[in-house]
Order: sequence, then C-alpha cells, then structure tokens
Amino acid sequence: MTQQKKNWQTLRGMRDLLPDTERYWRHLARSVEERAHGLGYGRIETPIVEEKSVFVRSIGEQTDIVSKEMFEVTRSENDLDDRARFSSKETQVLRPEGTAAVIRAYREHGMHAWRQPVKLWYYGPFFRAERPQKGRYRQFWQAGFETIGDPHPASDAILIYLFWLVLNDVGIRDGMIVDINSMGCKICRPKYRKALKDYYEPFKKKLSKLAKERLEKNPLRLLDTKEEDLIKLRDGAPQVIEYLCDTCRDHFTIVLESLDELGVSYNLNPLLVRGFDYYTRTTFEVRLATDERSQNAFGGGGRYDGLVELFGSRATPAVGFAMGVDRIVEEMIARKVRVPRIPRPDIYVIQLGERAKKTCLSIMAHLHEHGFKTLCNPAKDSLKTQLKLAHKAGVRYALIIGQREALDETAILKDMAEGTQEVIAQKEMVRVLEKRVGKK
Ligand code: HAM
Repeated sequence: MTQQKKNWQTLRGMRDLLPDTERYWRHLARSVEERAHGLGYGRIETPIVEEKSVFVRSIGEQTDIVSKEMFEVTRSENDLDDRARFSSKETQVLRPEGTAAVIRAYREHGMHAWRQPVKLWYYGPFFRAERPQKGRYRQFWQAGFETIGDPHPASDAILIYLFWLVLNDVGIRDGMIVDINSMGCKICRPKYRKALKDYYEPFKKKLSKLAKERLEKNPLRLLDTKEEDLIKLRDGAPQVIEYLCDTCRDHFTIVLESLDELGVSYNLNPLLVRGFDYYTRTTFEVRLATDERSQNAFGGGGRYDGLVELFGSRATPAVGFAMGVDRIVEEMIARKVRVPRIPRPDIYVIQLGERAKKTCLSIMAHLHEHGFKTLCNPAKDSLKTQLKLAHKAGVRYALIIGQREALDETAILKDMAEGTQEVIAQKEMVRVLEKRVGKK
C-alpha cells in the first residue's frame, strides 16, 4: 500500500502557541491573577464542553453565536454505552463564552447560599466558528470576571477599573477607551424595542432578509450592523438613553460617576448593543480610541440581572466582563512591550565519556533538587559542541565531568564569563554553586 504524504496543519482559525509568544500570555495571565486576587475574585474553571442549552437559553437563539457559531461535539461510534446515556436533545458544544457556564455552576453548587456577592474569575480557551481574520479566531482565550449578587452600580465601575488596571500592567492602556451604554431593564427595554420597531417599519421593504428577521425578533440587533444602508438609517434611530426608566437612569449615572472617581476614560455610545440577550442596564467594550469598529474590541461585558433566575435560582443581580487575551497580546507585541524572558538556566553539565554520561544525570538531578536550573545533553559527545550549547543557553557556569572526574567524584567548574576554571569535589558542588550563583 502506498503511503500518502500529508502535511498536517492546525484547523482553520486555530493556532499553536509557541514559547516566544507564550511569554506575553504569561505576563498577561500574571497581571490578571494578581488583580483578581487583589480585588477579591476566586478562580473558577468550568468544563470546555457543556450542554448546548446552557448557551441557547442565556445568549439567545437569534444571536450569531447560538444560531451559527457553536461547535457541536460528537462522540465516537464505539462509545456505545456513553451514547446510549445521552438523549439526542442533549447536544453538547464547545463553550463559546464563559458567563452562562459560570451561572450554571453558581446554581449547581448552591452558591446563592454563599456570602454574596460571589466574585469569580476564569482564564481559558473558548470556541466560535467565526470567519477567521486578524484578531478573530475559532479558538481564542478569554480572561473573565463575574460579580454575582451585587446590585450596586459601583460594582459595574469596579470591574471596568479592573480591566483598566490590567491594561496598564501590560503596557497598553494609553490610547484605549471604554465605550459604554445602558440597555435598560425588563420594564423600560420593551418600550425602546417598540420605538425601534416603529422607526424601522416604514423602511422594511428595503431591508435585507437578515435585517427583516432582526426587525421581527430583536430590533436592537439592527443597531449592531455592518450593512451600509442600515448604518445610514441608524443615525436617525431612537436612542436607548431616552427610554430608560428612572431606576435605570440613576443606575447609569452612578456607574459614570464611579468611573470618573476611578479615573477611567469612557465614551457614551448609544449604539453599543452587544450580541447577547442576557444583558440589562450597563454594557461596555474597550477599544482603541482611534478604532471605532466594535468587532475589534479588546473585551466587553455588562450587567445581566436576569440570567441567574433564568437558570432556576432566585433572582440575583450580576455583572461581568471578559477580555480577549489574543487581541491584548497582539497589541502588546505591536507596541513592543517589554515582558520578562523565560529565566535562563544557571548551570550546564558537560559530560565526556560513557561513565560521565551516567554521572551527569545524577548531578543534574541533585542540582535541580537544590533549586538550580540545570541543563545537560547526554546525546552530545564533544567538549566543543557542549561548550557551544552552554554558551547558547546563556549559563554563567559549566560543570565538566570527564572520565577522571567521574572516577574521582570531582568536577571542573568553568566560569563562562571569566574563562577561568577550577576543580571542585562533587560533594562540595552545591555549597560552591550557592556562593557563585546565589542561594537557591
Ligand atoms: P464577548 O464580547 O463575546 O463577550 O467576548 C469578549 C472578548 O473576547 C471580545 O471583546 C474579544 O476581545 C474576545 N473575543 C471574542 N470572540 C473572539 C474571537 N473569535 N477571536 C478572538 N477574540 C475574541 C463575552 O464573551 C461575554 N461572556 C463577556 C461577559 C462576561 N459579559 C459578562 N460577563
């Protein structure tokens, strides 16, 4: 049988993360973790796979994510036992976002009985079958924060502030702006929906099929459009701010006052309607002030006071946001932000001869146990090659073990910077290196 040659590649919209980029991710992750803990958030990890209905109910059936972007999971034909246990109704999907899963967990683990608010954060991969382009992937990472059980508008502002702090930590806050809007609540939003419907109805004949559908099912989504004609029409559309009830208006005013207090720059954007049905009141997105396209946001979120109840718990106010890790990292790289490199190893153990090959392993293990970052390469034979490798690795010290040193239980300690060397006893190695490299 002839073997066909095949070049395997990552799937469309998916990427490998290589060490040189990974260090930016780690820098961001460290800031997220420190800020989360500093503001009292505990980490939650929910599974990558969830029941589809977790997202359908919460995000909304008409949204792009639910109607066309979810990856469904199929199980192997051989897994008959498992297949039999699942009814066809329980389709499973790769999670497209984190909020619904966190609220599923809130209910499942009886978190309503915990001290409120429950403050949670997560950092992990999410999946949406979108058309890939720069900054838009099918597997992407989010760092998310959810505050559940706090109705106060200041908690909306504190979350935005947290986002702001992280952007500052990773060196890309300059030039960023927070677009903010209020979507109203279940009392005032229906009035706004009606006003929008009334506004667009006379133009119905000219609308695209998609726009007609949106007009029927969720007219707010007409504002969130890329269609030229709709963009023109949008300029004359009623604005949600004019329809807010007193409670929503007061809430929004306090959010803005709190942001002023916290020193966060924002832009009131009456057109900001995010692509999820669960939002109530505050919604926001962070973007470059020079780039008005909301598809390029570095993160976004808002209040979702009705979601916990939708999952069957008692009504509980909540607010949260997620930042797009891929986009933040791309911006860090574009701005040439300096991030710590992977720490260099301290020592390279060079071995010459069969006996030394074995000794070098126990020496490497011994040094690691004492906290030294130590490399060795038993596949290499020549001194020259191993010295080159030690030099490339950037170590200050090399320990050379030849046949004689292996027998004598000694080693040659070479200072790579000074070019000097001395013989030391293997049992003295840790003490000598602690002095040279610093106590581990
Ligand atoms: P979202 O706006 O869909 O919100 O996603 C948040 C951020 O994730 C976006 O602003 C973007 O930076 C990044 N993102 C989304 N899709 C992609 C993609 N395909 N490729 C690269 N980056 C992407 C949510 O997911 C809500 N759950 C946020 C939230 C939390 N609201 C309340 N709590």
